[in-house]
Amino acid sequence: MPAVRADKLYKIFGRRPSKAVELLADGRHRDEIASLGVTAAVIDVSFEVQPGEIFVVMGLSGSGKSTLIRMLNGLLPHTSGSVEIEGTDITKLGKSDLRKLRSEKVSMVFQHFALFPHRSVLDNASYGLEVRGVARDQRDAKAREALAMVGLDGLEHKVPGQLSGGMQQRVGLARALAADTDIILMDEAFSALDPLIRRDMQTQLLELQASLGKTIIFITHDLNEAMRLGHRICVLRDGRVAQIGTAEEILNDPANDYVANFVEDVDRTRVLTASSVMEAPIPVVDPGQGPRAALRTMRDSQTQSAFVVRADRTLVGGVNETAVGEAVRDNVKKLDGLVDTLERVHPDTPVADMFGQAAESTYPLAVVDGDERLVGVIPRGTLLAALATPNGDDSHAGTDASESDTAVSGTADGTVGDGREPHGDAEEPQTDPGGDAPATEGSRQ
Ligand SMILES: Nc1ncnc2c1ncn2[C@@H]1O[C@H](COP(=O)(O)OP(=O)(O)OP(=O)(O)O)[C@@H](O)[C@H]1O
Ligand SMILES: [Mg+2]
Repeated sequence: MPAVRADKLYKIFGRRPSKAVELLADGRHRDEIASLGVTAAVIDVSFEVQPGEIFVVMGLSGSGKSTLIRMLNGLLPHTSGSVEIEGTDITKLGKSDLRKLRSEKVSMVFQHFALFPHRSVLDNASYGLEVRGVARDQRDAKAREALAMVGLDGLEHKVPGQLSGGMQQRVGLARALAADTDIILMDEAFSALDPLIRRDMQTQLLELQASLGKTIIFITHDLNEAMRLGHRICVLRDGRVAQIGTAEEILNDPANDYVANFVEDVDRTRVLTASSVMEAPIPVVDPGQGPRAALRTMRDSQTQSAFVVRADRTLVGGVNETAVGEAVRDNVKKLDGLVDTLERVHPDTPVADMFGQAAESTYPLAVVDGDERLVGVIPRGTLLAALATPNGDDSHAGTDASESDTAVSGTADGTVGDGREPHGDAEEPQTDPGGDAPATEGSRQ
């Protein structure tokens, strides 16, 4: 069962939304129906997010990202279509069931932290549990654990104003982690941070996700962030889905000119990983084979080296033709002693991080999985070719120039939004029982 499923989801602001849905379903652009006095923010959006996936929604300002994410946890009522959380159609739930589902299953992290300025870091982090009625001891313990996970142990008794922006955002993240929901929604959560801190936060999020297996829906308008974090990326344009795919699919096979132009400026070596450029490991020899057999294998495949791999595909090392040829002449019977150590990379290693290792070795790089099994090899020529391949396809160029220019300039510099949140959504964090309001930008240092 998918963790989150949206099916033909629409959000129309304004009156007579059903007429608008009808016209939009018929393929009209949202600008064409503006005369009805409506704003079509989300149009016919469908996708499934699997448990443990990081699903990134990206698009320019106004493309409908925040509206979409707020419908996913029911903060905003939808106009038509459906949203399922772990199989429950939340569009059919009453207010209290919805609130319960939200507190148990879906947390949200906001761009401007949404912390309570007068509450301690600990009380901010435990907020979701407090709302759920968890006893103080228990929620404090959970919150401390979550704060430690994001590296804020020792700061429990500070107030948000005493922390840097990056630390405040960690508190926001800790709050989501303490609530221990399977699903975390993050709306431009890192956009207000400066680039180095932002990168740290991305790394931390990836690590946390890998260890905790959360399902994360992450909104950004920074393409590089999207490509770094997303297992899959959904590109929104004017409320509609332009493409859903992995970073590589979007980069190598953009669905249309709009997406092609969007990805034009991406650093390919950061996006492409070992698994996307590796080749089949040919030839391989078994460590039990002798030099004579190994030499024949290399000659048959016309290569000057071979990978030595056990029957269970674990990698032992590499042998080269010169050494093996000499061993044959000297009548050596075993490969032992001829095997060189190889540079190894993981399938997820970005191409950019492999150049140093490739330069160290005369062998192709060996791509091994977590169990040290050889899954592929990367000859140096392949690495360089990966750099040279242009994005997309020339046939995509230019028919949509004016729009596309906007797309590129809107994302290349990772510009942050204007901080405007859609109206009437201030439910989370809900009104603080103590009466203080959530801190927004104002309390950041
Ligand atoms: N409550 C509202 N009432 C009317 N129109 C709204 C409302 N909320 C959003 N909109 C409109 O819906 C469209 C999508 O807005 P949304 O905030 O979802 O975009 P976004 O992709 O999150 O943009 P940003 O990157 O600036 O945050 C915009 O045209 C916006 O003006
Ligand atoms: Mg937004």
